[in-house]
Amino acid sequence: MDDSLAVFIAGLPKAELHLHLEGSFEPEQMFAIARRNKANIPFKSAEEVRAAYRFSNLQDFLDIYYRAAGVLRSEEDFHDLTLAYLKRVAADGVRHAEVFFDPQTHTARGIPFATVTGGILRALNEGQNLGVTSKLILCFLRHLSEEDGFATFKEAEPWLDQIAGVGLDSSELGHPPSQFVRLFDAARTAGLKLVAHAGEEGPAEYVWEALDLLHVDRIDHGNRSLDDPRLVERLAAEQTALTVCPLSNLKLCVVKDMARHPLKRMLELGLRATVNSDDPAYFGGYVNDNFQAVTAALGLTRADLVALAKNSFLGSFLDDAKKVRHLAAVEAYAAANGS
Ligand code: ADE
Ligand code: ZN
Repeated sequence: MDDSLAVFIAGLPKAELHLHLEGSFEPEQMFAIARRNKANIPFKSAEEVRAAYRFSNLQDFLDIYYRAAGVLRSEEDFHDLTLAYLKRVAADGVRHAEVFFDPQTHTARGIPFATVTGGILRALNEGQNLGVTSKLILCFLRHLSEEDGFATFKEAEPWLDQIAGVGLDSSELGHPPSQFVRLFDAARTAGLKLVAHAGEEGPAEYVWEALDLLHVDRIDHGNRSLDDPRLVERLAAEQTALTVCPLSNLKLCVVKDMARHPLKRMLELGLRATVNSDDPAYFGGYVNDNFQAVTAALGLTRADLVALAKNSFLGSFLDDAKKVRHLAAVEAYAAANGS
């Protein structure tokens, strides 16, 4: 890839809309926090941990990811994890981040909901001093029951003024959105935004279910939507944002090769695709690494990159006035940098 495109990506104002905080847990921080908590890690070094990150599918990754999250215990741990992510992406030109957390991963092992959420929210507030605004999205684990999700939603009640939305993540195959209709109805009634992972490993049918049964505002991943022309038409007509994660797709074998990644085709089809990192500590890079990888493999142009940056703000849950300001910043950047 042309070096000037890498420079263009680096300074491009952008939002990140698909990021699991537990997936930003870098091995070095994992060792530091494990030491602080006198917890054991079955590895000798950060390099050894990274060497173990070879996955053949989503479940392979999730097994390691949930185990690593077990090191996080105190409010300070959740705060430090979140602040490290915000510091890292401030340097990537991220102006706004809508981040996921998985409370059930922690409450199931006795960590209070308030410890997790309080630590994350304290860091998100501090992030504003770094020039990064944020919104927090509570993800329900779809390998657990809807009833378990309801218990978590009840715990979240006192925090709902600080939680922008709910999502659905974890093992997709065998856990369709249709299993969570009542839970998402309750979240919608509470005034929350709704997102769901769909069409990552699961079929286009799961994307239909997320749209028609859960009434989501955004689809996380959505790759398999391209299998169904009627679905593509619907997503394009409604301009539903897809939070696409190229390096994640490569590491989890959703695509065989970055040159075959569907991102460019999504843009050509008029879909509101965005570029995101998913779990950057596990998949080899933060948001700009993802932009660079797809740009190099698919020959994206400056116009494509500007469209992706605009899509990231248009697909966000920011209010219209803030969207307008961010879109103007993208346009000013593009004009000042030769596109
Ligand atoms: N949790 C963290 N990353 C995920 C992904 N890519 N898909 C589903 N659940 C996840
Ligand atoms: Zn994800």
